[in-house]
Amino acid sequence: MEKIVISTLIAMSVLLFSCNNESAKRTMESNYADTHSYAQPSTAVVKHLDWQANVRFDERMIDAVATWTVSVTKDAEEVIFDTERLIIKNVLVDGKDSEWRISSYDPIKGTALIIQVPKNHQGDLKVSIEYRTPTSARALFWAAPSQTYGKKQPFLFTQSQAILARTWIPCQDSPGIRFTYEASVKVPSGMMALMSAENPQAKSMNGVYKFKMDQAIPSYLLALAVGDIEFQSIGPRSGVYAEPGQLVAASYEFSDLEKMISVAEGLYGSYAWGRYDILVLPPSFPFGGMENPRLTFATPTIIAGDKSLVSLVAHELAHSWSGNLVTNETWDDFWLNEGFTVYFEMRIMEEFAGKDYANMLANLGYSSLKNTIEDLGPTSADTKLKLDLEGRNPDDGMTDIAYEKGYAFLRFIEQKWGRNNFDEFLKSYFQQFQFKVMNTEGFLKVLKDKMGESLYNDLNVNAWVYEPGLPSNYEPVNSVRFEKVDSVANAFGTAKVKAGELAIVDWSTHEWLRFIESLPSKESSALLVELDSVFKLSISGNAEILCAWFEKSIKNDYRGVDENLRRFLNRVGRRKFLVPLYKALVEENRKDFAKEIYKEARPGYHSVSIQTIDEILNFSAL
Ligand code: BES
Ligand code: ZN
Repeated sequence: MEKIVISTLIAMSVLLFSCNNESAKRTMESNYADTHSYAQPSTAVVKHLDWQANVRFDERMIDAVATWTVSVTKDAEEVIFDTERLIIKNVLVDGKDSEWRISSYDPIKGTALIIQVPKNHQGDLKVSIEYRTPTSARALFWAAPSQTYGKKQPFLFTQSQAILARTWIPCQDSPGIRFTYEASVKVPSGMMALMSAENPQAKSMNGVYKFKMDQAIPSYLLALAVGDIEFQSIGPRSGVYAEPGQLVAASYEFSDLEKMISVAEGLYGSYAWGRYDILVLPPSFPFGGMENPRLTFATPTIIAGDKSLVSLVAHELAHSWSGNLVTNETWDDFWLNEGFTVYFEMRIMEEFAGKDYANMLANLGYSSLKNTIEDLGPTSADTKLKLDLEGRNPDDGMTDIAYEKGYAFLRFIEQKWGRNNFDEFLKSYFQQFQFKVMNTEGFLKVLKDKMGESLYNDLNVNAWVYEPGLPSNYEPVNSVRFEKVDSVANAFGTAKVKAGELAIVDWSTHEWLRFIESLPSKESSALLVELDSVFKLSISGNAEILCAWFEKSIKNDYRGVDENLRRFLNRVGRRKFLVPLYKALVEENRKDFAKEIYKEARPGYHSVSIQTIDEILNFSAL
């Protein structure tokens, strides 16, 4: 028995090892160019990371040694890593001191760390970089105890996507380069550390945690969180991590997780990453969710108490296929990650909660797509699926276009080709390209091969992918439940039926969102006062409803929400909520009020949110 186990283990590690070699070879030969990375993978490419780190909450810094196994061609003279403001202390190549230098600083890419390697070297090299993160490292969020749920211990979490991994680990920070990793992380005792890897389920006595990630991932999926965290199992391969005070609510909210994984597997093939757990972060987390492999990072604002926002979990779970298995080659192909994931998310939700429910989600997505196209301008190059982000921060191109226009395109293909054909295609696509990169052209080629030329030509691919706006022959998703909501909104707004007499029975969060969206956008403050007194929307426990309601209230100059709005903006740091609210205040000539709130709230926001809101408010910290 034992013998079988051992030989299986040996076979598995040989397989993983050879996959890793193959992946390095592929990257070297592929010749792609990522304008957001200094790395030169055609001569020297990373394969494996061994990260030894000491997380120091007192100084808000990490002292670490990153030892990279690097595959080099024989004429390589140097290996180049991406870094940003890291304090480099020492560099060893195969255990020996080596010459290294730092390039000039680029505000988007940071600096290149260029390390000399012996010429004519055969085989792999071990490059060790001893360094410290500066307190300003943009991927790191050091939450003070007051910013956590328990208010007693601090909390650290990272956010590496898109190009912030380089701010906490020197790496070849390009989505086209994959590596395996292991880590040993020391944290203050009493705290738990978690990574995008095999994770502990209990606190260690000495504060040291060991991690292993045997499946190759790109750098943007490197992740670490440290805090007063506990674990609650949900199913055989799923569970929730959260601060102790939030664990019960979180496990209720996500109690259908195991079922969701099975639904996803039923659609596009088995889950490749072993366990799937969710970590609930402090409210300063700038995103809704982040698909770190094996451990999705999530905002606490999806804990609504009624499981009404779990489509976000479906989304992050779907990334375990689209994005984490088949990865966009560069950020110009971001829609391959997000558009596929929204499509997959909708399919999971359809199985999970029914077609009517999924159609509401899709319909809300479509209206946000229309708004985004209007905001960016219908001829803006940023409304193309294939982006050109050279010289720009990739974050600037990461709009709803990748998500919702990407989704619309895939749904359009499904309609033209038939669901069964498209499903079969997607399943084999994920299988064939797992642990590989994909670009837009590569996807279109396999699609054309499988679909056949004549059907493919009917799709008008060029308009979808390389032209701005939305092709006119796209028919958006219709929602029966929203038709009912619209008639209620009409009864209220036009026919002047009293708020208390409206036919609102058992509305889901999404019906409320549609209703709020349908309310007039100007000079209807009296209507909002009436709704608020009946439905108490300003103190809703649901963050999505609150955000939509506050935005509508600002536009209608309904000032009754002001104090609740201020509290919300001080409590929550999720960029998706902050942006429309600060923007609406500016548009309604209330920039002073916006700045007053921002001054209080800004120190509690993540750098990702700060960067965006500074721009909206023209705010300078100095
Ligand atoms: N991968 C993204 C988050 C992201 C995108 C981080 C770009 C950094 C740069 C994640 O999967 C995502 O899309 N999150 C969404 C939620 C989703 C339900 C649309 C979010 O955070 O709002
Ligand atoms: Zn996503």
